[in-house]
Amino acid sequence: MSQPLKLAVLISGNGSNLQSIIDAIESGQLDAEIRAVISNNREAYGLQRATRHGLPTRVLDHREYEDREHFDRALQHYLQSIGPDFIVLAGFMRILGPGIVDAFENRILNIHPSLLPAYKGLNTHQRALDNGEQKHGVSIHLVTAKLDDGPVILQASYPIEAGDRAEDLQHKGHRLEHRMYPQVLRWLSNRNLEIEGGKLFYEQALLEEPLQYDA
Ligand code: GRF
Repeated sequence: MSQPLKLAVLISGNGSNLQSIIDAIESGQLDAEIRAVISNNREAYGLQRATRHGLPTRVLDHREYEDREHFDRALQHYLQSIGPDFIVLAGFMRILGPGIVDAFENRILNIHPSLLPAYKGLNTHQRALDNGEQKHGVSIHLVTAKLDDGPVILQASYPIEAGDRAEDLQHKGHRLEHRMYPQVLRWLSNRNLEIEGGKLFYEQALLEEPLQYDA
């Protein structure tokens, strides 16, 4: 039998995606083990979620480090000490520097609230509304040194309806996110999805286009 997938989950806030991963593990739908929940924000509600489920937590407050490089080095050091198979960014509001991305090449995942490559960066919901888009979505991608730029694994879209505000879009996105992250991790754990040399393989075939989540 294969070993559970070892995960480190990085958060900065509410941690509802973290919760969806915990729930998938606890209900036996995902064969994984969260080795640590790491936050750069001591107040992140996700830390309480982790503690409630008996998971180890670690705060690395970026403001306590001289600069980005020192913070990254401390984070890298801690990550290496727990040895995760994958690092799961779940609302982690810091950009990881090239050192850390190199050290964990092909092993860092992020979830982003847009249909990448559209709307990289922040405030994606409001920007999509301001541009009169008819749909928006969610992407899970591999992290590279460029912001929100690595190969996309899985995407889901939803319609923007008349009267929708940014928080409505966020709510629609979250509902999808909470099913998508456990799904991608399940594929990795089952080896349906493999990552080699920055390329994605789904059921052994090179993934040329992102998979579409069928809600
Ligand atoms: C999610 O919307 C995700 O797409 C973005 O940050 C948000 C995190 O939400 N990267 P939560 O902390 O998991 O509730």
